[in-house]
Amino acid sequence: MQQVLMTGAAGGIGTLLRPILPRLKVRMRLSDLADAIPQAEPGEDWMPGDLTNPADAARLVAGCDAILHFGGISTENRADLIHEVNVKGTYTLYEAARKAGVRRILFASSNHVIGFHPRETRLDADSEIRPDSMYGVSKAYGEALARYYWHKFGIESLILRIGSCFPQPKDRRMMATWMSKEDMLRLIGAMLFAPRLGCPVVYGVSNNRESWWDNSKTAYLGWVPQDSSEMFATKFADYVPNDPNDPAILYQGGNFAKAGHFED
Ligand SMILES: NC(=O)c1ccc[n+]([C@@H]2O[C@H](COP(=O)([O-])OP(=O)(O)OC[C@H]3O[C@@H](n4cnc5c(N)ncnc54)[C@H](O)[C@@H]3O)[C@@H](O)[C@H]2O)c1
Repeated sequence: MQQVLMTGAAGGIGTLLRPILPRLKVRMRLSDLADAIPQAEPGEDWMPGDLTNPADAARLVAGCDAILHFGGISTENRADLIHEVNVKGTYTLYEAARKAGVRRILFASSNHVIGFHPRETRLDADSEIRPDSMYGVSKAYGEALARYYWHKFGIESLILRIGSCFPQPKDRRMMATWMSKEDMLRLIGAMLFAPRLGCPVVYGVSNNRESWWDNSKTAYLGWVPQDSSEMFATKFADYVPNDPNDPAILYQGGNFAKAGHFED
């Protein structure tokens, strides 16, 4: 049975997934910052650690076959904070993984890596990187790092450009970007158990009717999302289109593309 580490397990996605993780039939080590860790549920194995600390990272990855790397800053913030956690923390984790012989990593990237593409452009795994925020820039670094560890050391990574993984779409944009927890769990299963993973880019999105992203280049993983945001369509029945040139509407990154820049 595989031993798997999940970082950022106390966060939003971790909280959604924790109750259904046992379906993967792996030994799961859950981790987050010590003061973020919730009351453990029966059978859960929690290990605190700060990803920016090499000694913590080494302890977290010891004995692991694979890592689900969800820990980090998940919205726009000051560049120095983003750099510390998302750049230094991700590097520290990959280095610890290399030294410990970890074979596979899921890197939780983001649609904000490509957020400055207009919505009418259909993107795939080879589309140009166009970060819409310093947060997106930090995820582009993580994607490059994953590729470096693949080509240099043969460590396989799933580069997952997550759309919006929440219980349900929170706004009209998320009708296109929503990903259900069940589709996330299916993808994690595909990633953990694929005979060969390589280092693919996958857009983390359910089988929504409105869609900007094409995952056909990674069909070899056998991941077929089963859910759709359509079941929430009535939530937005009163939506009135406004200015199509508003950057939040024009660009795939939505409000991240529209927002200003955090100055030092
Ligand atoms: N939720 C989404 O729809 C979405 C979309 C795109 C990308 N992502 C990415 O997926 C990941 C998980 O998203 P989320 O919504 O659960 O985010 P979240 O902010 O709810 O959770 C992130 C977790 O990382 C932990 N963390 C922060 N700094 C840390 C450090 N130095 N060491 C250890 N842990 C640390 C936090 O305590 C938190 O529990 C993030 O990397 C995020 O950027 C999420």
